[in-house]
Amino acid sequence: MQLIVNKKFPDNFLWGAATSSFQVEGAWNDDGKGLSVIDMKKKDSTITDFTVASDHYHMYKKDIKLMAELGLKAYRFSVAWTRIFPNGRGEINKKGVEFYNNLINELLKYGIEPILTIYHFDYPQKLVEEYGGWISRKSIEDYVNYACFLFKTFGDRVKYWLTINEQDHVMRMPYRLGIKEKDKKVAEKLGYQACHNMCVATAKTIENFRKLLPRCKIGPAVSYSMVYPATNKPEDILASRDCMLVRYNYLLDLHCKGKYSPPYWKYLQDRNLTPTIYENDEKLLTENKPDFIGINYYATSTVRYFPATDENPIGTKFGKLLPEGESGIYMKIRNDNLKTTDWGWEIDPIGLRLCLKELYDRYELPLLITENGLGAHDKLENNEIVNDDYRIDYLRQHIEQVKLAINEDIPVIGYCVWSFMDLVSGHDGFDKRYGLVYVNREDFDLKDLRRIKKKSFYWYKRVIETNGEKLY
Ligand code: BG6
Repeated sequence: MQLIVNKKFPDNFLWGAATSSFQVEGAWNDDGKGLSVIDMKKKDSTITDFTVASDHYHMYKKDIKLMAELGLKAYRFSVAWTRIFPNGRGEINKKGVEFYNNLINELLKYGIEPILTIYHFDYPQKLVEEYGGWISRKSIEDYVNYACFLFKTFGDRVKYWLTINEQDHVMRMPYRLGIKEKDKKVAEKLGYQACHNMCVATAKTIENFRKLLPRCKIGPAVSYSMVYPATNKPEDILASRDCMLVRYNYLLDLHCKGKYSPPYWKYLQDRNLTPTIYENDEKLLTENKPDFIGINYYATSTVRYFPATDENPIGTKFGKLLPEGESGIYMKIRNDNLKTTDWGWEIDPIGLRLCLKELYDRYELPLLITENGLGAHDKLENNEIVNDDYRIDYLRQHIEQVKLAINEDIPVIGYCVWSFMDLVSGHDGFDKRYGLVYVNREDFDLKDLRRIKKKSFYWYKRVIETNGEKLY
């Protein structure tokens, strides 16, 4: 629908940028920090040296100065659980608490609103060893205790909170759960139990949050996207809707409606994936909904119907952990209308607006874009410039769509570029860079870790200065 564009970004719009602890901090075992599941996987990594990452732990003051120069209104970061509780619970590490106190105070010094993610992939290894981590019901209490400690310690200064980053990815990746189960079927079922436990932990945390920080706001950060039908054949349209359900909507139905939708429950039953649910869980979930939804958006996908056969019965998955297809539901195909990143992610700015509209239609909650950005092979030229015009194009086109969503009165409260500075990418080390600020290192050559403002830094600065009016 074409509308008259006469609405602007609200004055208090949170122009932000984001990072996560294990991807920027480094100092992986300094000052009493305990080990996380990511440390276990990555300490012997052949992809990149992540133990130092961007060394933000030691350089945060410099980095925040750059954030201030950029004019950031908000900075999304995550707390490394094992810096606070090296064993996941019990003894508190004062040095870790001190680090985040300093970080938050430094942000506030420059008027930057902290957006704190409680947990972003780096789950305490000790809890996995003790009881299996998220796959056990015991995990709920430890997460809630940890979160409550953060509320009591930082809640006087932090207004916006994110509970769990992309639990939909965590549940599908055994190494992020920390489990070593070899049998794929068993591992998959454990993942669904972990997902349920994470939802209950979130609800219990929100229940406590309401008492401890009644004036603050909390929500999950989920990956979200649109799934398009490959053709106008009704079965392809069904496939796209079903894929949306099993990949994205099931989770927000749990967080925001407090229940498993009937078709999703049937999907789980047919595949023997149903989690164990306790009597009080539904009540807890229904009574403790989030204040807003945080979404991480990068790309869309397109699917065709993919019927199950004797050879590929219902439940068979294709591709890696985030499946390319599931027999009986969908198979992804390439969308020729969209360009891709160097890693094959389909670039789709309108897809972001569609997501915002879809989410608001379904859940009627304010929306915070917690991640959006472009991974690229950036090149440092003459030792001083990074001409990342491709990133500017990507960000501009996505922000334009956010503006159009706001023009339709969709309550988007903020937008965080992923990422503020170059960091260790989840799967591609330092080869794939997302930052507005270049960090001078390669995968295994740490060089001088110098910070260099990319062209996109200057562009985003102007966007913020003009409250989204000057995008060119
Ligand atoms: C999101 C994560 O999944 O996507 C980030 O929250 C991650 O931690 C980002 O870095 C991009 O993914 P990748 O694999 O390109 O780093």
